[in-house]
Amino acid sequence: MRSKQKTLWLLISGLCLSGCSRPSRTAQLFSYDANDTFISSLFANIESKLSGYIDYKSYDGKRKQTIQNDDFISAIDDKSTSVVVMNTVDRFASSAIIEKGETKNVPIIFVNREPLMSDLLATDWSQENCFYVGANSSYEGILQGDIASEIFDGPSSYAHSVYDKNGDGIVQVAILKGEEGHQDSEQRSENCIAELRTLGYQVEILQISYCNWERETAKKMMESIYSDNIELLFANNDDMALGAIDYLKTISSLNSNLPFEREFFPIIGVDGTTQAMEAIQDGTLSGTVLNDGEKQAEVIFDIIKNILDGATLPDYDSNIEITKNAYHVLGEKITKNTH
Ligand code: BGC
Repeated sequence: MRSKQKTLWLLISGLCLSGCSRPSRTAQLFSYDANDTFISSLFANIESKLSGYIDYKSYDGKRKQTIQNDDFISAIDDKSTSVVVMNTVDRFASSAIIEKGETKNVPIIFVNREPLMSDLLATDWSQENCFYVGANSSYEGILQGDIASEIFDGPSSYAHSVYDKNGDGIVQVAILKGEEGHQDSEQRSENCIAELRTLGYQVEILQISYCNWERETAKKMMESIYSDNIELLFANNDDMALGAIDYLKTISSLNSNLPFEREFFPIIGVDGTTQAMEAIQDGTLSGTVLNDGEKQAEVIFDIIKNILDGATLPDYDSNIEITKNAYHVLGEKITKNTH
């Protein structure tokens, strides 16, 4: 090659190297609280799927929407940002986040804290670029009710059984709720009770207490609400169920040879965390419902590949309910008998 030609060729190939190569792509991942047991495992699942596919960066909102807003604004201004996975601190902040995403044309997958459908579908852009992936929490509540009924062996066996402590035939229930306004709190609480009633139980709610999804808070709450009248405890998640158990262990009689759920009352959580599985094995937790973080991470990853590379979304089975842009993953019952 003559030297002039060679220079031209080098110049062209150089241009192509910088101009034709892919710009770096980053997924920005936002959690409302990186210390939340379920959220940290959900995000670990998402991160392990992303590694090797695209770069990602993770942010901890530390339960403050102001912190999350600041991080989100600077992340979205970053030119490499290709997609956002958003677990809002306050799910009612979603519409402002969608508006900002639209100005930069960055797709957003909301997880675990569900935006209003009207926000997800507000504009042509959001209909194309905004999604929600989370649990089917109404169904999880129903399964909590079913676990209780299996323990009681049906409504007709319940009355005057060892579980009907005051012998009035009515189930006296306490509920530990996660967080006001969180769809999983509201739907689980409503449906566990509704399911018992549908199955034919008479139910009296003694107490409903918010514990922010936290074990320590639930332990303190149990100390203040504990009474002999409680015949069943539903907790919106496993951490709070375990917190209640932590307190009950402090007052458990060493001489009692009754199973824990008979000395106190059956306790039923949601999530299926490692600690909950251990508590089911040791007999303190009567049951839980799987909040399937692995499946949720899989769907999130499928959507990301679809958005960024046009990969076809799989044909999901009936364990994933799809309503417009929202994907709800079904749970399953976990008790000593099922594992
Ligand atoms: C989980 C909780 C978690 C909460 C956080 C729920 O779906 O069951 O364990 O604390 O989400 O938003």
